[in-house]
Amino acid sequence: MENKIENRIEELLNKMTLDEKIGQLHQSGVSIVGAFEVSFEELINMLTDGRITPKEFEEYMNNAEEDFHEDDIRAGHISSFNGVHGAEKVNRLQKIAVEESRLGIPLLIGADIIHGCKTTFPIPLAESCCFDEKLWEKTAEISAEEASSLGIAWTFAPMIDVARDPRWGRISEGAGEDPYLVSKFAVAKVKGFQGEDLSKPNKILACAKHFVAYGACEGGRDYNTTDMSKQKLHEVYLPPFKAAVKAGCQTIMPAFNDLNGVPCSMSKYLLKDVLRNEYKFDGMLISDANAIQECVIHGAVENRKEAALSCLSAGLDMDMGSNCYGEHTKELIESGDLSIDELNTAVRNVLRVKFRKGLFDNPYFTNSKREKETISNVKFRSLAKESALNSIVLLKNDGILPLKKEMKIGVVGNLAIDKWETIGAWAIMADGDNCISVVEGIKNSKNDVLYEKCIEDGKLIEDQIDKVCSSSDVIIAVVGESRDMSGEASSRGDISLPEIQQALLKNIVKRGKKVVVVLMNGRPLALSWEDKNVNAIVEAWHLGTEMGNAVSDVLFGDFNPCGKLTATFPYNVGQCPIYYNHPSTGRPAGKSKFTSKYLDMPIKPLYPFGYGLSYTTFQYSDLRADFNNQNLEVSVKVKNTGDIDGSEVTQIYVQDVVASRVRPVKELKAYEKVLIKSGEEKELHFVISCDDLGYYNEEMKYVIEKGLYRVFAGGSSEELLQVEVEL
Ligand code: NOJ
Repeated sequence: MENKIENRIEELLNKMTLDEKIGQLHQSGVSIVGAFEVSFEELINMLTDGRITPKEFEEYMNNAEEDFHEDDIRAGHISSFNGVHGAEKVNRLQKIAVEESRLGIPLLIGADIIHGCKTTFPIPLAESCCFDEKLWEKTAEISAEEASSLGIAWTFAPMIDVARDPRWGRISEGAGEDPYLVSKFAVAKVKGFQGEDLSKPNKILACAKHFVAYGACEGGRDYNTTDMSKQKLHEVYLPPFKAAVKAGCQTIMPAFNDLNGVPCSMSKYLLKDVLRNEYKFDGMLISDANAIQECVIHGAVENRKEAALSCLSAGLDMDMGSNCYGEHTKELIESGDLSIDELNTAVRNVLRVKFRKGLFDNPYFTNSKREKETISNVKFRSLAKESALNSIVLLKNDGILPLKKEMKIGVVGNLAIDKWETIGAWAIMADGDNCISVVEGIKNSKNDVLYEKCIEDGKLIEDQIDKVCSSSDVIIAVVGESRDMSGEASSRGDISLPEIQQALLKNIVKRGKKVVVVLMNGRPLALSWEDKNVNAIVEAWHLGTEMGNAVSDVLFGDFNPCGKLTATFPYNVGQCPIYYNHPSTGRPAGKSKFTSKYLDMPIKPLYPFGYGLSYTTFQYSDLRADFNNQNLEVSVKVKNTGDIDGSEVTQIYVQDVVASRVRPVKELKAYEKVLIKSGEEKELHFVISCDDLGYYNEEMKYVIEKGLYRVFAGGSSEELLQVEVEL
């Protein structure tokens, strides 16, 4: 099969003119014509930087005429589109490419299907808290099903940037701070999107992004610089990409940032040495939007022509949005600055993924009938609910939860009734009108609920607060971040709740009312006041289509929460970046002044990685660990000591106690989520390959050293049993 594809590529390549080859490297957007003339990318920029509001954006989109550059398709100058969807539209454009262009090379339609298409699943940061690979795979499968019915053959997902700084808004798009967990997430998503047979009509190409270390941007400020040792790069930020490539991920997107002084888009080290040579990646690389042109702004090259040369010769195959390749490749070839071999390699990579996706044999893989039958199929809602339920993390509970249905319930906060707010960042095709808000969800469980938003135009509305407080036993305060407060270009310097929401909580607490906080947010928040002063905190993130129903089931105990945090919640933003698996310091925090700590805040986070409460309790015992045949074998008993059944995520961490380089205090190496009945005890067994216990030494050699290892087991990175074992 693969040989056949390579032969077909060569056959085609031999027929291609220089212009047609360059055309295969060009991803186009749709231009908006009408009220004003501006490209789709520019319109997105305007939306992102606030020059237009989301509503204005929608109006432009609805009124504007779209220009699909049909003559360019016909001439073979466009390889791919970002921003086109709908079976009819896509097939119309595809027909031009396949039937009217000289060589009939099909278009590859890409889109950001990050956490669902029309049916919206929890934002990835939330979904990662499920610790459930099967579920991660299933939601990607349904996303692929819906997206492909709209003519989309390729998603720019999963985002697998390890992220340890909650100020960074894009932490919402990934699976948190731990390289092991993010790698598991990456593999599940690649499998879900691409399936076993990528050429099936309901499968789409995955794109692992952003390659690499984008999550390490200094100060948590989006697009900012990154600088780190090669050891850290290979131990923390690269593993998810290595895992994605191993799982067969077909495309990869280099990140916007520079790493150690070189923009990722033009880094030969990253794209050739690591990806192609070390990982043997044979798929296609696509730039991030405009990133090739931005190498000029980085000051890494002088002009767009040099940018094209640097990126193409570094091995970046397709240009998203900047058209530097389109404008300059020809002159670069003619002048001899770029060899035809380099160009051919890029074209082969593009054609290879088009062949693998089956586009040459089945370019019209959807139609309006399939689209209609697939989109927002009600059967997808049960999966949306299952993933939402499992993503919820119970952060605090003084015993008030679960609520009794006979209680008088008041709900406050603007986020509580907004259907669109449930979808979170990067849900560009989501159908917000079809989502269940928190108030609706609660009403579905219990009819008599009093809702007052209590905040208007940035001010508290006292009589609404009076009303809801005087007629309720308990107040559910839905607070957090609106969806535009996380995601791309949405870094925050202060990650507490917005001031007006804090004022609302304080006002209600002062009246002596019981308060359950339901959080809707896209990043870990700093909640030290809330933790001290409210009765319960339910981390509900942005959970998508079934958000309200899932939250309600947790509040009333119809579902026992089991999510565990995948990113540390700091006590205060001043602790950021913060993550559990930090290297050991020579002076760990202690009583003495001269130890690693802060004068004005604790060293510990508020809620650590792996943490999450349940309505039952679990007790760990009998931890054993042994090295056997190149494996570390671990077993531990977990007992459900409470009155109700519950699922627990058992986590196994390992520390290499003495090593030739300073190693993390502990690292997650295995986990399992199991349902344990009330009173039942289960013994869990884990087999960890010794290959996974190594690290990169001074000489950048991966070594697995003999000596003492500490093995930890428990239900959170901070509450652990431990034993020592010698390798
Ligand atoms: C910019 C984002 O960084 C990337 O994640 C996304 O896939 C592209 N734009 C395309 O929309």
